[in-house]
Amino acid sequence: MNILVAFFLLNLAKVNLGESTSSQPNYVLIMADDLGIGDLGCYGNTTLRTPHIDSLAEDGITLTQHIAASALCTPSRAAVLTGRYPIRSGMTSYQRIGVYIFAAGSGGLPTNETTFVKLLKEQGYSTGLVGKWHLGLNCESSEDHCHHPLRHGFDYFYGLPLTNLRNCKPNGGNVIGVGSRSTVRTTIQTVTLSLFTLLLLNFLQLVRVPWRALGFILLAVALLLAVVLLFFSQFRNLNCILMRNWTIIQQPFSCENLTQRMTKEATSFMERNSDRPFLLFMSFIPVHTALYASPEFLGKSKHGLYGDSVEEMDWSVGQILASLERLNLSDRTLVYFTSDQGAHVEEISDTGEVHGGWNGIYKGGKSTNWEGGIRVPGLLRWPGVLTAGRSIDEPTSNMDLFPTIVKLSEATMPTDRIIDGHDLMPLLLGEVQQSGHEFLFHYCNSYLSAVRWHPRHTPFSHSFQCCRRAMLDSKLGSGRKEESGD
Ligand SMILES: *[C@@H]1O[C@H](CO)[C@@H](O)[C@H](O)[C@H]1NC(C)=O
Ligand SMILES: *[C@@H]1O[C@H](CO)[C@@H](O)[C@H](O)[C@H]1NC(C)=O
Repeated sequence: MNILVAFFLLNLAKVNLGESTSSQPNYVLIMADDLGIGDLGCYGNTTLRTPHIDSLAEDGITLTQHIAASALCTPSRAAVLTGRYPIRSGMTSYQRIGVYIFAAGSGGLPTNETTFVKLLKEQGYSTGLVGKWHLGLNCESSEDHCHHPLRHGFDYFYGLPLTNLRNCKPNGGNVIGVGSRSTVRTTIQTVTLSLFTLLLLNFLQLVRVPWRALGFILLAVALLLAVVLLFFSQFRNLNCILMRNWTIIQQPFSCENLTQRMTKEATSFMERNSDRPFLLFMSFIPVHTALYASPEFLGKSKHGLYGDSVEEMDWSVGQILASLERLNLSDRTLVYFTSDQGAHVEEISDTGEVHGGWNGIYKGGKSTNWEGGIRVPGLLRWPGVLTAGRSIDEPTSNMDLFPTIVKLSEATMPTDRIIDGHDLMPLLLGEVQQSGHEFLFHYCNSYLSAVRWHPRHTPFSHSFQCCRRAMLDSKLGSGRKEESGD
């Protein structure tokens, strides 16, 4: 009898341990939106001030060849959460537009995909998402929320189910590109001109158009115009939504103090969960257009509203790190910082101000498969575990987060599907010198457009690496010279 009780107690203790051992680290995963690798001080920017993000590099590891699985928000975020190329989960498009741009659109990350969040929740973690989701919302009706973050392992959600769009800010411009707007304009002009010509010809009795037909055409044109106007006037209201868990709390959301509100949500989530393992995914709304900054940051940077917005985001990162410190959790928390893809370099405001970031020496940007579209910042800090100030030049992927976190949390890796990411810990701890990625595939929507080959240890690969580094160094060197010249 006594033995049985003891056995029972032992098992109970085991279960408790299994649910939350002190060896299970917390995770603070920070993702910026559309931030360029060249925007950060720790990646060589000398004029934008990002001291808090840079501190992660000083106190942790800098990945210099961190590659996003896609150059667009929706697929890249799907890849991060599932550890799989987005084409595997169906989160890639066969058409030109590769992301969700309407909140009402049906579709999203399939529920049979396993996110690391779901696995961590099963391990007893408290899981929160603050900020942007952009992986779909509904299936059949506007109420079913079948793709909502809370269906993918998050316990708590405060943020945008869709994304920030230019239309979300009054006078922020229009996400429907200049190209399509001029198409609308040309169509209206052509229709009006044709109608006028028809009326004139009719008046001159050169052709005979029945009045009923004319009336019908006029009505059709007016209807078309009304639909176009309605579309643009209602765009903000219907797509710019702020939610807390299942509930819409602001529609349309206001950019005013949005970063402050998000920061407060993030820090209170950590405070609420400071006595058990947690995962916080801080998915920033900045620096996607429409850009915004609060009065404390407005006009303070050297790079217009874009720079102000980056600096405010950096402030927010500082607040999160300070909270970790205050809660005495820094040593037990792995902090990761990245951007979902490269900067949107060609983005300009209606008044011509540059609203896209900087990808440094890398060509191209968001939505291109040139290096600038996919090479993103990758910073990892875990005091006492990861060597401070180290940098790693091996190719790594944002899909690596999945196996890294799953293994660290003692959860079981799914065996019924292919996971494309590789555990980063051996590389981060210096146990191995090469990353697990011999090949990385670069898709443009659903189409494979490039493959990166990182040859395994061979004399050739070694000299190739040195040669590349020398080229990079000389490029960086010449960049610096130009700068000191002006
Ligand atoms: C999820 O379900 C879809 C549709 O049934 C299927 O095609 C896909 O392979 C499933 N994915 C996984 C990871 O099981
Ligand atoms: C720093 O970032 C700004 C804003 O993106 C950019 O205009 C500038 O060229 C960058 N400076 C350097 C030295 O990379």
